[in-house]
Amino acid sequence: MPLLELENVSQRFGGLKALTDFSIALEDRELVGLIGPNGAGKTTVFNLVSGFYTPSEGRITFGGRPTRGLKPHQVTALGMARTFQNIRLWNDLSVLDNIRLAHHFRLGYGMVDAVFRTGRYGRAEQKIEREAREILETMELAEFAAEQPKNLPYGVQRRVELARALSTKPRLLLLDEPAAGLNSSDVDGLIRLIRWIYDEFKICIWMIEHQMKVVMSLCQRLMVIDFGITIARGTPREIQSNPDVIRAYLGDGAL
Ligand SMILES: Nc1ncnc2c1ncn2[C@@H]1O[C@H](COP(=O)(O)OP(=O)(O)O)[C@@H](O)[C@H]1O
Ligand SMILES: [Mg+2]
Repeated sequence: MPLLELENVSQRFGGLKALTDFSIALEDRELVGLIGPNGAGKTTVFNLVSGFYTPSEGRITFGGRPTRGLKPHQVTALGMARTFQNIRLWNDLSVLDNIRLAHHFRLGYGMVDAVFRTGRYGRAEQKIEREAREILETMELAEFAAEQPKNLPYGVQRRVELARALSTKPRLLLLDEPAAGLNSSDVDGLIRLIRWIYDEFKICIWMIEHQMKVVMSLCQRLMVIDFGITIARGTPREIQSNPDVIRAYLGDGAL
């Protein structure tokens, strides 16, 4: 059984068909890329998969279970985590609290339990704190535990967002343009970090990325969409020389 399966998924926004008949099956421990020009529908795919949108048509299953009707935090609880194209951290909380809050979703506690520290929360608090500190240590973020994300360099904020996603112990990690906004030395560090996460956590990673260097050096296979339509699938090498892909990217300067 695939870890994640999308079958003929389409999404309309009013008169716009943002995604048409999108299908893919991801297995455990794959590292797969989703690419395409701006506005192609890539983020829409992740919003559908992670429960932010409900597909207009088609079927999505995670671990064999249909996800239609589940809310994002319920999908998280099943073992899926994501990062966002524009970093979404709780900027007025500390880095440590950002990680702790993510834990709550995995353990089935709500924001209310976390903020008001109910009895239920109190019992699990020590374990959550210990695990949150562990993931910060692992991701070389321990020194920033008490800082607010908004005061940290962008590259560090990206790492905090990754740490937060990993702290929910996902089987599938979705990364939406993790290299966006990073300078070239940060991009090299990110490539090493994603490879390390993949090896260390032994999970499946599905990433959207605009920087070809990142997908080409990390992904085992790629899928390309343009105007919501799948135009190619293959290894990075196959995709790089695919005439349909080159045409879609012409003028985009990304290849
Ligand atoms: N919530 C929404 N409401 C209306 N249109 C949307 C919404 N989300 C995305 N779109 C549109 O769908 C298309 C694909 O967007 P998106 O998935 O963000 O593309 P990409 O991530 O590939 O750049 C765009 O035309 C975008 O404007
Ligand atoms: Mg996008």
